[in-house]
Amino acid sequence: MSDKIKIILDVDTGTDDAVAIMMAYLEEKIDLLAVCTVVGNKPLENTTENTLRVKDLLKADFPVYKGCGEAMVCNLNPNRHGGFKGVRTKVGDMKEDVSMHTEYLDIPASTSKVEKEHAVFYYIDTLMKSDGDITLVPVGPLTNLAMAMRIQPEICGKIKEIVMMGGGCRRTNSTPASEFNIWHDPEAAQIVMDSGVPIRMVPLDATHNACVSTDDTKEFRAMGNPVGDAVADFTDHRIMAYSQLQPMERIDSAPVHDALAVCAVAYPEALKDLLFTRVDIDFSGGFADGQTIVDPRAFVDKPRNCHFAFDADREFFVQWMKDLARKV
Ligand code: BDR
Ligand code: CA
Repeated sequence: MSDKIKIILDVDTGTDDAVAIMMAYLEEKIDLLAVCTVVGNKPLENTTENTLRVKDLLKADFPVYKGCGEAMVCNLNPNRHGGFKGVRTKVGDMKEDVSMHTEYLDIPASTSKVEKEHAVFYYIDTLMKSDGDITLVPVGPLTNLAMAMRIQPEICGKIKEIVMMGGGCRRTNSTPASEFNIWHDPEAAQIVMDSGVPIRMVPLDATHNACVSTDDTKEFRAMGNPVGDAVADFTDHRIMAYSQLQPMERIDSAPVHDALAVCAVAYPEALKDLLFTRVDIDFSGGFADGQTIVDPRAFVDKPRNCHFAFDADREFFVQWMKDLARKV
């Protein structure tokens, strides 16, 4: 029997999701069972096509399941996402919009296809049949997972762990209070936080401390293989966008958020300064809509539900990606 860590990745691909998929596929400690797609960085059709493009680039055979194209309920209220803008694509006197994600990833169009089953039912079928040994790694909005939990709550007892990219305590991006994955579907995020499943949260507090720089992308490009080139291209695009919209402390660098969550699955030591605490989500529709509320107190009111990472080991994380990309 294989002792690899079985995971299902849930993505809204996206430049950093693309790197996460590549690393999950290449990491020998991980058995990538499937990749599920969700709306988020772009509409569902785009995130799904992008996911298939990455799969084809890797010449991989993992199945791709298409999931939800809209957040659970928050779009019903025009004062929610309508009232606040998402991650900003223009600041100051910028004339052109700049985005961390192109409409489609700049790699060849896909030839492979999605599976027939919907991602939500794939989760339910697979988890119910499992021995409770599957780790879920959502790195986009939590819509698919929360839907599956609502339809079949028994899956919660079958999930080994959730290692998710999302949230932010001292760092935010969508609004002054919120991080994108949580903000996009706050009700879904709260359902997951209430699920009772062990959760490790990889928030902006950790990912912003593990940025990839242009010195690093030069090394990826010098590898001379399709993965090294793709990581370099996607990350250089991110660095260009972050430098204009949300400059990082380390000059000419950007977070590759989602890949850090994958790294943490195989190497928990990549995350630092973890706090086991209570985390809830604001979904009241006000200024703090989508906020990750991390309880810093010694005596919390509700049971602790999350290991929240305030920091990460940048050198370890970047070296891990380089080692994986180099062996392609
Ligand atoms: C998260 O939002 C998305 O833009 C990224 O792919 C990442 O999952 C960061 O806030
Ligand atoms: Ca993502």
